[in-house]
Amino acid sequence: MKASIAVLAGDGIGPEVLAQATRVLAAVAARFGHDFALHDALIGGIAIGKTGAPLPDETQALCREADAVLLGAVGGPKWEPPAKVRPEQGLLALRKGLGLYANLRPVRLFPQLVAASPLKPEVLDGVDLLVVRELTGGIYFGAKRREADRAVDECVYTTAEVERVVRMAARLAGERRGRLTSVDKANVLETSRLWREVATRVVNEEFPQVRLDHQLVDSCAMQLVRKPSRFDVIVTENMFGDILTDEASVLGGTLGMLPSASLGEGPRGLYEPIHGSAPDIAGRGVANPYGAILSVAMLLRHSLSLETEAAAVESAVGSALDHGALTEDLAKRAVSTREVGDAVVRALLEERQ
Ligand code: IPM
Ligand code: MG
Repeated sequence: MKASIAVLAGDGIGPEVLAQATRVLAAVAARFGHDFALHDALIGGIAIGKTGAPLPDETQALCREADAVLLGAVGGPKWEPPAKVRPEQGLLALRKGLGLYANLRPVRLFPQLVAASPLKPEVLDGVDLLVVRELTGGIYFGAKRREADRAVDECVYTTAEVERVVRMAARLAGERRGRLTSVDKANVLETSRLWREVATRVVNEEFPQVRLDHQLVDSCAMQLVRKPSRFDVIVTENMFGDILTDEASVLGGTLGMLPSASLGEGPRGLYEPIHGSAPDIAGRGVANPYGAILSVAMLLRHSLSLETEAAAVESAVGSALDHGALTEDLAKRAVSTREVGDAVVRALLEERQ
């Protein structure tokens, strides 16, 4: 198959992890006979430095034409407040501009990484969950203002925004173990009361085979580290999803392991590891590229419908972990970012024989 993929490396460790992710894409193309055209473009702080804008028009145009977008990370101390133009604005504008309202963040624990998690093995037993985070609404995109001695961030949700993301999450739950947990703060927030009503209606009317329950976000945060195996699919609003997935990443070993896919109505998606730009380790060649590599697997699966290829990348990650290709967030005797890429590419190409 022919596909065009926009590659937005961004800031900090973004370029380092994407260098390995794109090698993996090239190995997939070689093994399965595909033609993937990769197009680099600017986003984030580096884009501000070169063009003045965190999401230049050319980047937007390229992403609109591409079949999928692969992104590294944005942000860094150089652009911290009070800077007016911020790298994160580029990412938020890209998600919104492409209509990518559902952010899929699967959390699974590779058995090789049980020791890397600070949680007890018995707590981690059976962890396999998917968080579907609403991505283009809520407090992230509400009106913001600053007055003399007060600041305001509005949180707005419409019925239609809740419906579409709940529908996507319920469909995915139906393809998994059939359990959906909707997370809100309905005891305090009006947007959450709307969320709960809409989620109940959509699931009852359209997904009778899916078992829905509701949880308050504070309680969910606790359950995630107490008994994570009870979750199948979690659907929640933008900011709750941001916070809960950093917490949930601990279940997968470290934040560096987690991939994500941001989807809208069509097959085009944005794929990025959930970690940030990690300026403290940037440039040292030690960052964990597995989150980016597993994002490639999600890209193959969701945007290109290449399930066999996606599974091959995931299995190559398993082999690389078996061979001890662990970065310093995972093990004391660590290998470099590039060596992880080497191990994954080797496994992908060896499995061909
Ligand atoms: C994430 C990140 C972003 C977010 C930042 C960089 C704007 O934390 O993708 O989880 O909050 O969505
Ligand atoms: Mg986050």
